[in-house]
Amino acid sequence: MVSHLVLRYLVAIVSTTAAHYSSAFKADMSSCPSDIPLSCTNSSQIPDTCCFEYPGGVLLQTQFWDYDYPTGPDDMFTLHGLWPDNCDGTYNQFCDSSLQISNAEEVLTSFGEEQLLERMHEVWKDYQGDDNNLWVHEFNKHGTCLSTIKPSCYQNFETNREVVDYFRKSVELFEGLPTYRWLEAAGITPSDSHTYSKQQIDEALKSRFGKEVYFKCDRNHALNEVWYFHHLRGSIPHGNYVPIDALISSNCPAFGIKFPLKKAPSTSTNTATGTETSATSTATPTGNGGYLKLENQAGCLISNGKWFASGTCATYKLSKASFGGYQLTSSKGVCGIDSDGYFACGRGVTAAQFDYDSSSGYVTYGGQSGWSADRVPSRNVQVPIMPGSGRNVNFSLIYETR
Ligand SMILES: *[C@@H]1O[C@H](CO)[C@@H](O)[C@H](O)[C@H]1NC(C)=O
Ligand SMILES: *[C@@H]1O[C@H](CO)[C@@H](O)[C@H](O)[C@H]1NC(C)=O
Repeated sequence: MVSHLVLRYLVAIVSTTAAHYSSAFKADMSSCPSDIPLSCTNSSQIPDTCCFEYPGGVLLQTQFWDYDYPTGPDDMFTLHGLWPDNCDGTYNQFCDSSLQISNAEEVLTSFGEEQLLERMHEVWKDYQGDDNNLWVHEFNKHGTCLSTIKPSCYQNFETNREVVDYFRKSVELFEGLPTYRWLEAAGITPSDSHTYSKQQIDEALKSRFGKEVYFKCDRNHALNEVWYFHHLRGSIPHGNYVPIDALISSNCPAFGIKFPLKKAPSTSTNTATGTETSATSTATPTGNGGYLKLENQAGCLISNGKWFASGTCATYKLSKASFGGYQLTSSKGVCGIDSDGYFACGRGVTAAQFDYDSSSGYVTYGGQSGWSADRVPSRNVQVPIMPGSGRNVNFSLIYETR
C-alpha cells in the first residue's frame, strides 16, 4: 500500500512536469487516451496508434561526466541521449535509414529552432568538440527507432519534424534530471583527493529520482556516466515519463569511486596529446585484425559473415566507432544486420555498431548476450548467425586478434 502511494505520488509529479512541457510542442498529433497502458506493462496487444512506444518501451535519459576530455560546464553532467530499450533490456539501433539525417544543426535551423540549438550547444556536448556529430549519431542510432514519432504519426508532416521533437524532448528530460546538483546536495562533489562509496552515490540519486539509477565507472574507477530509466505513457513528445528502476546494476566498485574534476585542458594548444586521451588510446585492438570464432564450436566466420566449419577464417577489422560502439569490417565490406536479422558483411550492408569487451573478447550486438544459428554447419555449408538466442544453437562470438 505504501509503495503504491509513493508510486502514485511520483506519477503525479512526472505528469505535472510533462503537462508543463507539452505546451511547448507544436506537433498536431491527436491526443492519446489517458488510459493507455504504460509502455512495457500491457497485458494484451495495443494497436499502433502512435500513443504506445513499442518495442522500445524503456526510455533512458543518459548523461556523461566527461572529465577526461573536459567538456561542458564544470558543474554539469552533459546530455548523452534519449534511448529506447526493449522491455527486456536489449535494444534496436539504426532502425530506419530513410529517416537518417546528416546535419542536425541544419534541421533545427530550418525549423526556426535557434533557441533549442543554442541550449543544445550548452548541454549536449561532444568530447571531441563536434556537437553536431554527436546529435546526428544519437538521432540516427536511437531516434529512428521510436514508434510514436514516426512521420505517419503527424498530421501535415514536414520532413524532419520528428527530429526536432526528439532533440527537444531529450533536452527537456535532461533538464529535469540535474545529476550534479543532486550529488552536490548529498556532499558528493568532484575532487582529486576524495573518493565515494557506491552506496553514497546510489542513495543520493535514488532519493531524488525515486528509483534505482544506473551509474557507470570507467577503467580508473571514476564516475563517467549516469542513466535514468523510464516507462512512458503516451507519445515521446507529449507522454508522461515514469521513473523505473534501472535494468542493470552499476559496474562501479563498492568503495573508492572517483569523481574527478573537469580540468581545464593544459595551456598547450594541443589538447589531444598526453596520457588522458582514453577515447583514442584505449585502442582499438585492430592492428592486424583478427578472427571471429564461436566459443565451444568448430569453425569461424568467413568474409560474408556466415559460419563455416571447414575453411579458413576471414580476417576482420574491429575499429572503435564514435560514442562507444565498434564497427566490424571484412574484405567484403562493412558488417551489419541484414533485413532478416542475420549478421552480414559486404556491399549494400549498413554498418552496425557492435559491443566488444576487450577482457573477454566477446562481441555482442544490441544488448543481446550472445548469438545463435539454426544449426551447426556440416561440411561445405555456410550457416548464417543472428544476435540473441532465438535459434537452436547458442554461442558466444569471440574476437581473437591475429
Ligand atoms: C504489448 O503490446 C505490443 C504492441 O501491440 C505487443 O506486441 C505485445 O505482445 C504486447 N504485450 C503483451 C504481453 O501482450
Ligand atoms: C539458448 O539460450 C536461451 C536463453 O539462454 C535458452 O532459453 C534456450 O533454450 C537455448 N537454446 C538451446 C538450444 O540451448
